[in-house]
Amino acid sequence: MKIFLTGVAGFIGSHLAARLVARGDSVVGLDNFDETLYPAPLHRRNLALLGDTVDFTEGDFLDADLVERLFAAHRFDAVIHLGALAGVRPSLAQPKRYQRVNIEGTLNLLEACRAHAVNRFVFASSSSVYGARNEVPFRETDPAVKPASPYAASKRAGELFCSNYSDLYAIATSALRFFTVYGPRQRPEMAIHKFARLIREGKPVPFYGDGSTARDYTFIDDIIDGVVASLDQCQGGAHRVYNLGGSRTTTLARLVELIEAGVGKQAILDRQPDQPGDVPITYADVTHAARDLDYAPKVPIEDGIARFCAWFKEQP
Ligand SMILES: NC(=O)c1ccc[n+]([C@@H]2O[C@H](COP(=O)([O-])OP(=O)(O)OC[C@H]3O[C@@H](n4cnc5c(N)ncnc54)[C@H](O)[C@@H]3O)[C@@H](O)[C@H]2O)c1
Repeated sequence: MKIFLTGVAGFIGSHLAARLVARGDSVVGLDNFDETLYPAPLHRRNLALLGDTVDFTEGDFLDADLVERLFAAHRFDAVIHLGALAGVRPSLAQPKRYQRVNIEGTLNLLEACRAHAVNRFVFASSSSVYGARNEVPFRETDPAVKPASPYAASKRAGELFCSNYSDLYAIATSALRFFTVYGPRQRPEMAIHKFARLIREGKPVPFYGDGSTARDYTFIDDIIDGVVASLDQCQGGAHRVYNLGGSRTTTLARLVELIEAGVGKQAILDRQPDQPGDVPITYADVTHAARDLDYAPKVPIEDGIARFCAWFKEQP
């Protein structure tokens, strides 16, 4: 397949591109090395690992002319739209930018699919669409009508546009709700990576609440398995929604212990109140992904953190 992959220089995008190329797909990648969350050289490092296996363009998917030129120059079989402004907390400070990049940007790509009869669209959504709630696990059939941050609202809106383009134009769309993804090259501002860095440097680790908040963490290889399976299944004009998670929860306190063990040093905790926009728990029911995509997360948090730390220790 010839695939248009946005966000190819990101954490998940660079892993996905490598997997797609390895199985014989041809990947046309777009990324603008956005510095909202981390510096451009780190995006470039991710991209450099792909060598010349990907046909890369530096640019912004908000640039409709550029998107049109790329769709006109290639005959894409599918679009995988991972490019976005990720991150809950920064979205509270810049809601309008999140709205533009994540909603308008998604719409630009859906419009290009419509204009060029590209009928497979895989969209990176997020567990954050479920909002702050204590009933677990989260199911795709649960209402997702109270997102707790502008980021979550923008992802939910992206899903709704996917559903819309499936209904109106028979473009098959799959919205994949990723549950906190980690592994080598994880974004440096995300908890696991940030904690590892602070512990190594002997600096205080911000520790929100009493440590009982819990997350469903998903190792990168498991996420990539799910994305590739959903790409292959994304046909026939339907709109589908899948949770992709580890389907197990880990408390913040336990997470810190695992990272301490991996880095080989104890954390200095800087206890702080719960943060606005944060949710108490995330926990994926992956029954639908298991049934339709043969999805089965394989890497438990203990192994995944050890693998992350092994990579982390090699970083300068
Ligand atoms: N990492 C997670 O735990 C997680 C969880 C849920 C959802 N997601 C979603 O998965 C996707 C990938 O996340 P990630 O962790 O790899 O983030 P990332 O920031 O590493 O990757 C996103 C990439 O998109 C690029 N980008 C941003 N705006 C762009 C624009 N206007 N034009 C072109 N490129 C642009 C960035 O430069 C970046 O390289 C995102 O859509 C994110 O919201 C991630």
